Amino acid sequence: MSDGYMWYEGIAFPVVEYSSEILRKVRHEFVLKDEDVVAVTYPKSGTHWLAEILCLIQSKGDANWVRSEPLWDRTPWVDNEHGFTLLSQKEGPRFLNSHLPIQLFPKSISSCKAKVIYLMRNPKDIIVSAYFFWNSVNLAKKPESIEQYLEWFLEGNVVYGSWFDHVHGWLSMRERGNFLLLSYEELKWDPERTIGKICQFLGKKMEPEELNLIVKNSSFQIMKDNKMSNLSLLDDVYVAKKNPLMRKGVTGDWKNYFTVAQAEAFDKVFKEKMADLPRDLFPWE
Ligand code: A3P
Repeated sequence: MSDGYMWYEGIAFPVVEYSSEILRKVRHEFVLKDEDVVAVTYPKSGTHWLAEILCLIQSKGDANWVRSEPLWDRTPWVDNEHGFTLLSQKEGPRFLNSHLPIQLFPKSISSCKAKVIYLMRNPKDIIVSAYFFWNSVNLAKKPESIEQYLEWFLEGNVVYGSWFDHVHGWLSMRERGNFLLLSYEELKWDPERTIGKICQFLGKKMEPEELNLIVKNSSFQIMKDNKMSNLSLLDDVYVAKKNPLMRKGVTGDWKNYFTVAQAEAFDKVFKEKMADLPRDLFPWE
């Protein structure tokens, strides 16, 4: 913990709410059910946005639920103590969030039909988002500059480990019928169509006006103003700067922060590390 992370199986985690004991139980003891819906993301890929959308699909666009219960109780993270405890006690179908790399995710996934949605985002935008986020909270090591965070990111020495490994691990499931691959970019560029895709995957029929309500109530500005979703309920001791979560909510913000040399160096690594995967999986490319 002295370096600002909690380490488990070679992966860095935040120092609050995470422990080896819980992570071991998550992997070996947590039982997924066929009716569960699992939203998996690498941090800063739009996790909270997807979680809000799932809840709004459940309520057919009605915002009462998302405005009255904290997001981390509606769609708990199985990875941490709070979420693990809540989910273990929950009856009926559950929404689960997770940032875990596939090798640390509950083993029970291999033998169950739970639906898995994997949301990706342009890693250069993740780097910018993460740089600001980790400096706005007191939950893990703070990078001094984008340059430093970029270096850590390429080494995989950041919370939840290497993005490249995370994507490779989860994309190994992409041919399964219970797996839906989405990107932050397609959600941003065409929310109606992308939310429609999620509804279809979940087998939820939505009227056009219900779909419009889901799009509206999960928009950046409405979520930014919703204290149940914008992390303003986070205990003050963990907040270093106001509004840690809802920063800009755009695609391509990396262009405002990366130098040309940094972008070129990153693209070179991306090309090498992702060469085995079809380019069209990454719509930002
Ligand atoms: P930025 O920091 O680039 O603004 P996560 O939920 O995985 O931590 O991701 C946080 C990122 O998702 C932040 O990106 C945040 O602004 C963005 N985000 C959250 N809700 C959003 C929404 N409704 N629309 C667009 N982006 C959203």
